[in-house]
Amino acid sequence: MSKNILVTGGAGFIGSNFIYYMQKKHPDYRLVCLDSLTYAGNLHTLEGARCDNFRFVLGSITDRELVFSLFEEEKFDAVVNFAAESHVDRSIEDPEVFLRTNILGTQVLLDATNKFGVPRYHQVSTDEVYGDLPLDRPDLFFTEDTPIHTSSPYSASKASADLLVMAYHRTFKTPVTISRCSNNYGPYQFPEKLIPVMIANALADKKLPVYGEGLNVRDWLYVDDHCKAIDMILENGRIGEVYNIGGHNEKANIDVVKTIIKAVGKDESLITYVTDRPGHDMRYAIDPEKIKNELGWYPETLFNEGIQKTIKWYLENEDWWQNILSGEYKNYRGFDE
Ligand code: NAD
Ligand code: DAU
Repeated sequence: MSKNILVTGGAGFIGSNFIYYMQKKHPDYRLVCLDSLTYAGNLHTLEGARCDNFRFVLGSITDRELVFSLFEEEKFDAVVNFAAESHVDRSIEDPEVFLRTNILGTQVLLDATNKFGVPRYHQVSTDEVYGDLPLDRPDLFFTEDTPIHTSSPYSASKASADLLVMAYHRTFKTPVTISRCSNNYGPYQFPEKLIPVMIANALADKKLPVYGEGLNVRDWLYVDDHCKAIDMILENGRIGEVYNIGGHNEKANIDVVKTIIKAVGKDESLITYVTDRPGHDMRYAIDPEKIKNELGWYPETLFNEGIQKTIKWYLENEDWWQNILSGEYKNYRGFDE
């Protein structure tokens, strides 16, 4: 059955990959992208999504009037909320917009979901809501029952949104699901996050800034595997449930950086150790048993294959990230209504 789905934040990294994933998997679905085009939103990214079943709407999830009129007009079957301020370092420099978008924006979407009786609201959350794990306990993993314990203004804002989503479910019976995913990588990731920063800098023979000693561990997931999991949750996930998403691909940052250096044929002398991120989470590691057992999800792309695919994409799409580095991407308004 065809569906009409609102994808917020679809001009960003994961949201755009989700739009492409869904267009391929469900060509009959209508997808409406609502994005305010912050520095992280890029309309060049959505060029390939143009079709009769796709609509781009410029606007913020915090704009109640706009959101309500869009819900009234489109009569969505589902909402998938990717829209967020997503970068930990920026949240340390200036937390306020994180609270506005990530918490209050979520509330506006939940209110609209209730008012217009949307059958499903899906919140895209993060493993960062669980805080971190120690390096010397490789036996520990985040499960859905791990207590919320946040470290940065970013993760606190995402955890607050999750609490609000679950409170709306309990109080108003809002039909919600939440996914908490580990670190994504792949095409269209903004060159402020570890992997694209390292690829872009290495190609330009610039220093590769590794925070602290580079020993922090992240659990890397190829972005399409995240998109697949969200699609499966939309189809068969149980209302009111949280699903962790991760593929047991734990890597220390320094090893990721060295893999990139080798793949692009540069020298490790480019590595420079810089001041650590304040409150830097040590290790993330997801236990994905629930989504595997209930929905049959599994990651298809292992890190060694995914990182090579990603590096190849950045090499073949240099215009995409050079436009960001130069700031040119902000002048493009191809989809404005
Ligand atoms: P991103 O920063 O690349 O993209 C965010 C998008 O949201 C941008 O297009 C931006 O313009 C848009 N946006 C920001 N504020 C908005 C607002 N007020 N109204 C409408 N649009 C707005 O982020 P991402 O890495 O693609 O992350 C997407 C979601 O997934 C976020 O909710 C993030 O917390 C979550 N997440 C990310 C990762 C990861 O590794 N990147 C992992 C787990 C969960
Ligand atoms: O775990 C999911 C989270 O992953 C998402 O919720 C966030 O939106 C996403 O940004 C990501 O958060 P991280 O802080 O883990 O990602 P980031 O790419 O910023 O950093 C990854 C690791 O690399 C982290 O330990 C910090 C380190 N780092 C990062 C940058 C940008 C460096 O050492 N040097 C860098 O230049």
